[in-house]
Amino acid sequence: MKKIIIEGNHPLSGKIKIGGAKNSVVALIPAAIMAKGKVKISNVPNISDKDALIEILKLLNVDVKKSTGIIEIDASNIKNCLIPESLSNKLRASYYFMGALLARFKKVEMYFPGGCNIGSRPINLHLKGFEALGAKITKEDSKYLIEASELKGADIMLDFASVGATVNLMIAASMAKGTTHIMNAAREAEIINIAELLNNMGAKITGAGTEEITIEGVSELHEAEIKVIPDRIEAGTYIIMGALLGDNLTIEGMIPEHNIVLLNKLQEMGVNFKLQNHKIILNKSNNLKATSVRTAVYPGFPTDLGQPISVLLTQANGISLFEETIWENRMGHVKYLNMMGANIEAERQHARITGPTPLHGENIIATDLRAGAALVTAGLIAEGTTVINDADHILRGYERIISKLSSVGANIKIVEV
Ligand code: EPZ
Repeated sequence: MKKIIIEGNHPLSGKIKIGGAKNSVVALIPAAIMAKGKVKISNVPNISDKDALIEILKLLNVDVKKSTGIIEIDASNIKNCLIPESLSNKLRASYYFMGALLARFKKVEMYFPGGCNIGSRPINLHLKGFEALGAKITKEDSKYLIEASELKGADIMLDFASVGATVNLMIAASMAKGTTHIMNAAREAEIINIAELLNNMGAKITGAGTEEITIEGVSELHEAEIKVIPDRIEAGTYIIMGALLGDNLTIEGMIPEHNIVLLNKLQEMGVNFKLQNHKIILNKSNNLKATSVRTAVYPGFPTDLGQPISVLLTQANGISLFEETIWENRMGHVKYLNMMGANIEAERQHARITGPTPLHGENIIATDLRAGAALVTAGLIAEGTTVINDADHILRGYERIISKLSSVGANIKIVEV
């Protein structure tokens, strides 16, 4: 495992460029195997989740060519086979191979997916949707066999606006016979990016980004290209760091409307920022006002920024209230922020944060990807040295985080242990 070491309290100035969205590219890569021909994905972020998916492509005899920021996938000679637990449990998004292999081969055999330890993370909505499309599911311990003589369009009402289920069912339905309506669909920006690739491959999808998506199934998908949208969670994380330490810190290459809810919240708190087209300029803000944050499905406050913004709330004047409504176990950062001097009382999915509290460096542990991002944020403002163990979690979703932060003045390094 790796650890990140930070000497805190250095202003951040200069430019950080936002990379491609993790939660988009981890679906675009599996979706590409449905095409009879080459799929070129550009603006691919250099994150470890991408590498885990490429290992699965290789297992399926899919040809992969990689260059900087580009992946070319050619599944012309794909061989469907069991995806072992050693690969499927490396990340949550391995489950997108369910939709893609079911669509192309009407059969997929794989183990339950992995992912951050932020809750039980069931996949019942995915499986219910596959059954609605005509698939039969056999489960043996954590191994799933999903097969169908044919996939037929269906009306699917999601009990919860699940991002993963929306994407997986959109993928599977794109090659079903007839029309599928996904209702109560998730509306996150990444879903539009994935629908765009599928349509570029010849699928007929409308309504992506709204709560009802319509998919007219087609019999074949062909070669296509797609550009990964900027990562709104990476952008939001650096924006929060800029609010704490910015000295004309510019975050560029982002799509501001994907972060509008965060920016409104920061405005409420009195954060000093300027928006210019696809970039934002931040300066350290004094006298931050306490506020309340409640995470929700898009377009609500994104759950993936709940842990990073908690660090900002520890520096606000007064009592802030925080509620995580998506995941039942996403408070892994609280214990360590309190060790660093924060005053957070957390009870299940609620937290009461009293600020401002000066933070000091400690030897702490990243329990998951976004908790890790929160601990990096805390280390950057803490007095003294912070050591973040299990830092590999952070590299799953933040490309070149050490070089991006070092280039704007942070004293941060990563070491192998
Ligand atoms: C995606 O996870 C993201 N991951 C998560 O980001 C993000 O937190 C989440 O969407 C919500 O925005 C990827 O895109 C790879 P969900 P996903 O299905 O699809 C319940 C990060 O930090 N649920 O929208 O797994 C589930 O338990 C990661 O980048 C079911 O009950 O999220 C949760 O309570 C973490 N049954 C809620 O829905 C199901 O079949 C939201 O899950 C599916 C989900």
